[in-house]
Amino acid sequence: SRVDKAGFKHFMAKEIAEQPTVLADALRGYLNGNTIFLPDTLPDFAKVDRLVMVACGTAYYACLTAKYWFEQIARLPVEVDIASEFRYREPPISKGTVAIFVSQSGETADTLAALRYCKGKAETILSVVNVDQSSIARESDVALPIHAGVEVGVASTKAFTCQLNTLLLLALNAANQRGTISDTDLASTLSNLRALPGLFNAALDRDPVMADAATQIAEARDVLFLGRGLMYPLALEGALKLKEISYIHAEAYASGELKHGPIALIDKTVPVVVMAPRDALFEKTVSNMQEVMARGGRVCLITDAAGAEAAGDDVWRTVVLPEVDPILTPLLYALPAQLLAYHAAVAKGTDVDQPRNLAKSVTVE
Ligand code: G6P
Repeated sequence: SRVDKAGFKHFMAKEIAEQPTVLADALRGYLNGNTIFLPDTLPDFAKVDRLVMVACGTAYYACLTAKYWFEQIARLPVEVDIASEFRYREPPISKGTVAIFVSQSGETADTLAALRYCKGKAETILSVVNVDQSSIARESDVALPIHAGVEVGVASTKAFTCQLNTLLLLALNAANQRGTISDTDLASTLSNLRALPGLFNAALDRDPVMADAATQIAEARDVLFLGRGLMYPLALEGALKLKEISYIHAEAYASGELKHGPIALIDKTVPVVVMAPRDALFEKTVSNMQEVMARGGRVCLITDAAGAEAAGDDVWRTVVLPEVDPILTPLLYALPAQLLAYHAAVAKGTDVDQPRNLAKSVTVE
């Protein structure tokens, strides 16, 4: 079937906008009521000792996010690595290890080479892919489709949220097998997940606010992204998105690391994007923001209503998202991060769908 821009200016804009529908479809591919349907060929996670997760680029940040889920919900230790580093380090892989490779294209050379390294070492080779007939899918014991549909924009958007969705379902399934989640908690998480496409629509409605902040941020030379917990990998993904398509230098730090280096960079020319729903650690994030603002830094806070209220009036821009189950924040907060990068690129007049020097699928090492 022909893929066109469906009236959008760029494929990326279309792929961001279609995420409510795409997520709803992806969920239908895996869920029936409160039952998660996964292939029988998957290992019993009660018998698994550890996971290694390997990927590149955006898929790597999906793995970093999933580490929090597998560790907190399923109590499984997880090692995450970049494919090009993993292989050449020759890491020992013990028998009870499941090796997970995440790749939109399924053709990334470094990820494929890392997969081949794990063959005969890991218990199971599992991949999470968007292209079912890809090399990575074919060489795996089990390949889980993310059901994102064709993604054209070089900067990954809907594939990222669908990778997160698949990995979360896998983590919940593992938790269920390992007895680390109660039936009630599982049922409530799944029902919140089914409601997420509706919250995606509400997040996309924040587009004008995001566009306004992005247009101003586009004038900066450097941008810092901060987040903690599940929002830390997302800060990394937000910075990558911005770099890739707007060519603005962006870096992400775990909020708690601000004082150990990056705070030296803060002045009025450096916008700081903080992603922080109001959670148990929000007060700590507020003091991080105050340190930034005391040095003239402009804070763009992406949060919920409670967070916006607690943050005070000195914040330069506040983007208010609906309240969401804390486990699901990475999926919801991905949307404003994508919109920020998109609008910054549009403001700079760059080639959004085909950024310089980048390829959609990198089949060379
Ligand atoms: C390229 C793309 C990135 C992507 C990465 C991994 O560098 O430009 O957007 O995240 O490859 O791609 P994969 O297909 O393995 O997910």
